[in-house]
Amino acid sequence: MAATNGAADPLATVDTDTINDEILLAAANHDIDTLTKLLRTGSAKIQDPETGFSPLHAAIASCEPDEDEKMEDAEDAGDAVHGNALSEESALATVKLLLENGAVWNELDNNDETPGCTAHRLGLKSVYSAIVDAGVRAELLFGRLDGFTLLAGGDDDEDEEEEEETIDGFEPAPDRGPATEAAKGVLEIDESCGFEPTPNPSSKVEGADVPTLTSTDPSGADQKVDEPVLSNPNVNNDAYLKSELTYSGDRLLDSDKNAVMMDWETEIMKVSADQLAYKPGLKTMNVGHGMGIVDGMFLANNPEMHYIVEAHPRVQKKLRDEGWHDKPNVTVLEGRWQDVLPKLIEEGVQLDGIYYDTYAEDYKDLKEFFAEYVIALLNRDGKFGFYNGLGADRQVCYDVYTKVVELDLFDAGMDVEWTDIAVPDLKGRDEWAGVRYPYWNVDKYLLPTCKFMA
Ligand SMILES: C[S@@+](CC[C@H](N)C(=O)[O-])C[C@H]1O[C@@H](n2cnc3c(N)ncnc32)[C@H](O)[C@@H]1O
Repeated sequence: MAATNGAADPLATVDTDTINDEILLAAANHDIDTLTKLLRTGSAKIQDPETGFSPLHAAIASCEPDEDEKMEDAEDAGDAVHGNALSEESALATVKLLLENGAVWNELDNNDETPGCTAHRLGLKSVYSAIVDAGVRAELLFGRLDGFTLLAGGDDDEDEEEEEETIDGFEPAPDRGPATEAAKGVLEIDESCGFEPTPNPSSKVEGADVPTLTSTDPSGADQKVDEPVLSNPNVNNDAYLKSELTYSGDRLLDSDKNAVMMDWETEIMKVSADQLAYKPGLKTMNVGHGMGIVDGMFLANNPEMHYIVEAHPRVQKKLRDEGWHDKPNVTVLEGRWQDVLPKLIEEGVQLDGIYYDTYAEDYKDLKEFFAEYVIALLNRDGKFGFYNGLGADRQVCYDVYTKVVELDLFDAGMDVEWTDIAVPDLKGRDEWAGVRYPYWNVDKYLLPTCKFMA
């Protein structure tokens, strides 16, 4: 709860014991005037203890017709007015006000829904889009802050207790709303986390606690900026590379039964390889062999040379056992791409197509890959693709990360074209039996093909 400073308070009549309830109620009623006043002393990052509703959830849920109204609507199809349900227009105004006042775009309620999930479920397109935009701003901001963290933190191996640090001189993203303007000055990393993070999307592993970013305004009031959706310090690349892997029929599992690769992704691999190795005689590279699905497809397109980079000893053994080292026009490079690629760059290798699909790496790694290595290795007319599983266990996170990566690719000088691929009904096909975490829960795969801008 925000501190008061003792000066003449326009909200002197507000009872601070009930202010959270009042904020939730005003949000639920789309009562902009009352909400504006309450947010002068109260916070937008509160949750109802019983439902887990944040003010954003409350504002959006008020657009849902109650059960009786739904029955009436079903009988009277075509009637767009939902009895007591409030309008999308007033929800949008309320949501914008809350976001400007520091509301958290990806807070979970007790039904495991973020506000964006609820807006998506209710078909509130404009509200959903406002939440996605807020998520993009927050994640871009986090990406920038991460750079500050490294500079300020120095030693990566510091203990968790020592990790809390202050970052001076933080400049928020230019289009960030008033709430973030208030955050200018000091930023801290707070270890508490009110959100179960999305599993590391590019690496298909289960989520774990991640640091929550909390900004502190000059009056000392805490204000959560956002937490990273992607980082997963418990399942990092080093630990994964030392873990045992099992090939079992249609899947590759790690020692915790997380799926590293599953054969329902074959269609995605086929289109990815065909986009990058679109004619015979090209020089191509794939990072992350896994089940070898995409490498088989690259070879089917008759490249002049195809490089395979693979870091895990078990997968390296598979490559040897299956004779990949002896295949014509194939070069297998054993090691992490971070260690192997600088040598290729030194040798002056230039490629026509590069694909990236690793495991237990963060978005930060993917970004480093394209911003530093792809731009050095890909020839001017070449194409770059990657496994786009960013945030794919939740539509709103997928949509946020699709935009974030597009903006970061643009920063690196690349345009991206998205190809839609329908994802099969994975639950219906019982694909997740025996897998610890169902990392995919989105109907449409968005396949990226990136090229340097003209
Ligand atoms: C999802 S699988 C790739 C699946 C592959 N696209 C296919 O078609 O079967 C990820 C692979 O990346 C490898 N990997 C993980 N981190 C790596 C790194 N830093 N450098 C190189 N390979 C890595 C893993 O060992 C694993 O074989």
